[in-house]
Amino acid sequence: MAAHRIIFANEKGGSGKSTSAVHTAIALAVKGHRVTALDLDTRQRTFGRYLDNRVDYMKRAGATLPMPAYGTFNPADGFTIHERLDNLAAEADFLIVDTPGRDDDYVRAAIETADTLVTPINDSFVDLDLIGQVDPDNYKIKRPSFYAELVWDARKARAKSDGGTVDWVVLRNRLQHLEARNMRRVAAALSELSKRVGFRVIPGLSERVIYRELFPKGLTLLDLAAIGEDAGLAHVAARGELRELIAGLELPEQAGAPKQTQAA
Ligand SMILES: Nc1ncnc2c1ncn2[C@@H]1O[C@H](COP(=O)(O)OP(=O)(O)OP(=O)(O)O)[C@@H](O)[C@H]1O
Ligand SMILES: [Mg+2]
Repeated sequence: MAAHRIIFANEKGGSGKSTSAVHTAIALAVKGHRVTALDLDTRQRTFGRYLDNRVDYMKRAGATLPMPAYGTFNPADGFTIHERLDNLAAEADFLIVDTPGRDDDYVRAAIETADTLVTPINDSFVDLDLIGQVDPDNYKIKRPSFYAELVWDARKARAKSDGGTVDWVVLRNRLQHLEARNMRRVAAALSELSKRVGFRVIPGLSERVIYRELFPKGLTLLDLAAIGEDAGLAHVAARGELRELIAGLELPEQAGAPKQTQAA
């Protein structure tokens, strides 16, 4: 059975695509799923670099950690984007794709093949503006924006090609509970927009230094116990929100039974 495809995409730069993609990929690998990963951001390669760092860490530390098979998409390799995605999907339970913060034909092609499309956004009207415009007086939605139209077109293309559906999930990244009023307003606008445009809203990772500082080692907080590092109380909360993120994605159980189980 081919992999369930999870594509992380948002034209808005710095919205948390790569961070969310890495944490999702590792969390699923830790659960024992076969995970493959493709980075479409040929220039920055944050997703690929994170996993390079993980390979280097394992070599240095002599450790074996759950590890996705991964690659970077390069049109010069001679494979089309569809061939590359199909090849990676054939060997896995989950295929995770990270995309650059811009619109291009490869990103659109990937979105059209998504089973789950995850759009991380910072909890801000600036980020929300790509999906829907709000009235400045009452923060009600005035109209959907171009990114909602792009996903609409992708869904139509997908339905036409194989009759499949794209489950669109908007993930609220870098939540900061100190900004309660802004959080409520963005939540209300997202909720209204979700019904008009057809997506689900789920909480993502909150603002924490731990999500940035483990990059050079390619680790996530799910690995800390495995490498014998003390995971303090803050990490317990952080692991909880990562588990909630994965649960919110509502991924199919049948996308490959877990091969081994490791406590997260
Ligand atoms: N939950 C979080 N807590 C703290 N820092 C975060 C969090 N999520 C993302 N960041 C930081 O925000 C920045 C942007 O995140 P990331 O690179 O994941 O976004 P992106 O959407 O992939 O960006 P781009 O569009 O450039 O590819 C990075 O410095 C990252 O470490
Ligand atoms: Mg990125």
